[in-house]
Amino acid sequence: MLSHRAQILPASSTAALDAHIKSLLADGADIINLTGGELDFPTPQQATDGAHQAIDAGHTRYTAVAGLTELREAIAQRLNTHWGCAYDPAQIVTTNGAKQALAQLFTVLCEPGDEVLLQAPHWVSFPHMIRLAGATPVVIPTGDTGFKITPEQIQARLSPRTKVLLLNNPSNPTGLVYTERELRDLAALAVENGLTIVSDEIYGDLVHDGAIFTAVASLSEEIAAHTVTVAGFSKTYAMTGWRIGYAAAPLPVAKALSAVQGHTSSAPSSISQHAALAALAEDTDTELARRSRELGTRRTALRDGLNSLPPLRLAVEPQGGFFAFVDVSGLYRRPEDDAATIAQELLEQAGVAVMPGQDFAAPHHVRMSYAVSSSDISQALDRISTYLKTTTHRSTS
Ligand SMILES: Cc1ncc(COP(=O)(O)O)c(C=O)c1O
Repeated sequence: MLSHRAQILPASSTAALDAHIKSLLADGADIINLTGGELDFPTPQQATDGAHQAIDAGHTRYTAVAGLTELREAIAQRLNTHWGCAYDPAQIVTTNGAKQALAQLFTVLCEPGDEVLLQAPHWVSFPHMIRLAGATPVVIPTGDTGFKITPEQIQARLSPRTKVLLLNNPSNPTGLVYTERELRDLAALAVENGLTIVSDEIYGDLVHDGAIFTAVASLSEEIAAHTVTVAGFSKTYAMTGWRIGYAAAPLPVAKALSAVQGHTSSAPSSISQHAALAALAEDTDTELARRSRELGTRRTALRDGLNSLPPLRLAVEPQGGFFAFVDVSGLYRRPEDDAATIAQELLEQAGVAVMPGQDFAAPHHVRMSYAVSSSDISQALDRISTYLKTTTHRSTS
């Protein structure tokens, strides 16, 4: 009964594990959950107020497919003031989360069989979205290049079918932030070879001390003409449930994206759009800086704790977003062990839930979220420390 596309599409493993942990927690299990992909901060009050006002004012009908004009104007303005990107509101399409923008983009940009270059480790959903659109993900391992894709690697994978270079900066799951120089080199190669860059910058507002985030589309007009910027409200404003993301794209791409959306889901919720508009209207840099600082403090606590828990090994220092990417191979006891084995043990024996890296194309790493309270971070570290003392692993056995 199922199409081939549906048959090869697994359910989102991150969502499934998160749901499993939440149901264990609901049954009273004593677990510290570091699997989640959302901040524990509340949605800003002005956004919830904006939603209430929208309901009271009867803004409860379809909006234009690409979103409210005022919201598209506000997004374009913010991209300009915060990230230095020159977008016209007509180039903005609001979507049901950044996820929908990305999924629709591969349909809009790729013919069946076209290739999309992306790095491993990568966000779980990328290859599935690409395949659903009939395109082919070409995954480039970056374990030997510091978890960053290089122009040489791209050059080596270019084929007549290469259509898109997909970037995710800051990265989920590594937390790495590309430098401006690195992005310029990648973008130059993309432009030279007529590729479209899809740059998922959903974590772009959440960088920690010292790291500087650069939006690809801010680099030059020529690069912007080859780039689609994807971002949204889920992470910056702790609004995951409101489902507002967007793509900022060259006009023909924005129009095509809007056409696909018009025939599939229509605009995202009118009420959520008003909430997003209110979040932007009263956004203050002080508040944004406070959230980033708080995340930076939690990152430091988790980083320092992990560094004192060998043989666990923090693979890289997270610079943005809210994930730590941890090599667990030092804990293996049997040849068949992998990150899923260790994640299972941590859950059952330490009461700490972490995300195994298999579906990030990182079978020897787990991802730990630090978008949880400082007290959860310190308890999780204590529990892992106790677990390490009571278990034998390769480096001690
Ligand atoms: C890299 C990346 N892109 C996109 C998304 C989707 O965000 P949204 O909630 O806006 O759909 C996520 C969410 O986890 C993510 O990690």
